[in-house]
Amino acid sequence: MYFISKINLFLFLFILLIFSCKKKQEEITPYKEPLEYIQLTYPNYFPEMTLNTSNRLSKEGVALGRKLYYDTLLSNDGRSCSSCHNQTESFSKQSVNSLAHINLAWHSSFLWDGSVGSTLEDAMIFEVGTFFGTDVSKLQNHSEYPSLFEKVFGSKQISVNQVAFALAQFTRSMISSNSKYDRYKKGELQLTPQELNGLDIFFTERGDCFHCHTLGLFTDNSYHNTGLDDNFNELNSGRYLFTNNSADIGKFKTPTLRNIEFTPPYMHDGRYLTLEQVIEFYNNGVKISPYVDPIMTKPGKEFGLGLSTQDKNDLIAFLKTLSDTSFLNNPQFSKP
Ligand code: HEC
Ligand code: HEC
Repeated sequence: MYFISKINLFLFLFILLIFSCKKKQEEITPYKEPLEYIQLTYPNYFPEMTLNTSNRLSKEGVALGRKLYYDTLLSNDGRSCSSCHNQTESFSKQSVNSLAHINLAWHSSFLWDGSVGSTLEDAMIFEVGTFFGTDVSKLQNHSEYPSLFEKVFGSKQISVNQVAFALAQFTRSMISSNSKYDRYKKGELQLTPQELNGLDIFFTERGDCFHCHTLGLFTDNSYHNTGLDDNFNELNSGRYLFTNNSADIGKFKTPTLRNIEFTPPYMHDGRYLTLEQVIEFYNNGVKISPYVDPIMTKPGKEFGLGLSTQDKNDLIAFLKTLSDTSFLNNPQFSKP
């Protein structure tokens, strides 16, 4: 009797074991492939990058964003983001004077007047939802997108926000930190005497450029009136039209100078076609108004910067050390 009940007990435990194993298996199905999360790297002279914890960067998310960036399905008129943000022009386009997509991960407001902010996700929601008016049903009816979105965001139902989040992942990954200047900064090469004189002008009171085009992004991500004009109307009032604060009259976003060689025309209205013209403006063309940034009218600047022809050429030679052709040719950013 005792013996039988012992066998029964073993049998019972055995069946229990089988059931519990089966139960466990059921719990992990449906099995979802985990995302491959990635971490971006950048030099230590860059500011710290603030990441968006609600949009963690994954290999799959970046790849989806890249596909969307080049896809004309996003617009209703045959254009894609890349139509006006072209890789060989540092993701800008000369004919429309668009802003470059380079190191955008560090920006906290967007467009020339900074009217869109504060995260890259916000900027992309504006681009997709407002600027493009993307019809997500076109993506929903596509043969590949629903499963790609499901993989990244866990849902087959595509939304404007998901499109924007994927684009934010891709553009956040577009880092340029391999220019000649970067390699000099990392001790990998030496600059020419001409470039070094340009560097000195840039980073000292001689040219004063570094106050706004700060290291290592070469933008302070802020807004200034640099004295391009002294008479203000709707076209050149810039940030004021957005904030209605008179202190913002004539202020525009400081553009990065990285890859500046490849992103003419220059300034918010594209008024300068060459770097020579830009330097001549800073050297001798700043217009005084109650709104001009005090840096532009510091004591000693009454007669401009006083740069010689040689100095001006050297400053341009330095600006060209900020060119990063590996960024312009990076296959990870090209049309998939
Ligand atoms: C028809 C041309 C055109 C297309 C297409 C286009 N853009 Fe732009 N983009 C511009 C112009 C011009 C600017 C600068 C406009 C301004 O600041 O007022 C700009 C600026 C931006 C900025 C601000 C960058 C900064 O430094 O502040 C972002 C971000 C951006 N575009 C993303 C996109 C995305 C994403 C798409 C696709 C969904 C897209 N753009 C499609 C022309 C375009
Ligand atoms: C007070 C801040 C400030 C200082 C100082 C300054 N810049 Fe700028 N820079 C800006 C702003 C803001 C713009 C955009 C102005 C606009 O479009 O209205 C700009 C635009 C530029 C552009 C055109 C960029 C583009 O993509 O269109 C270049 C090139 C440039 N600056 C180089 C320099 C150099 C070289 C110096 C030093 C001689 C310098 N800057 C000093 C704030 C500054």
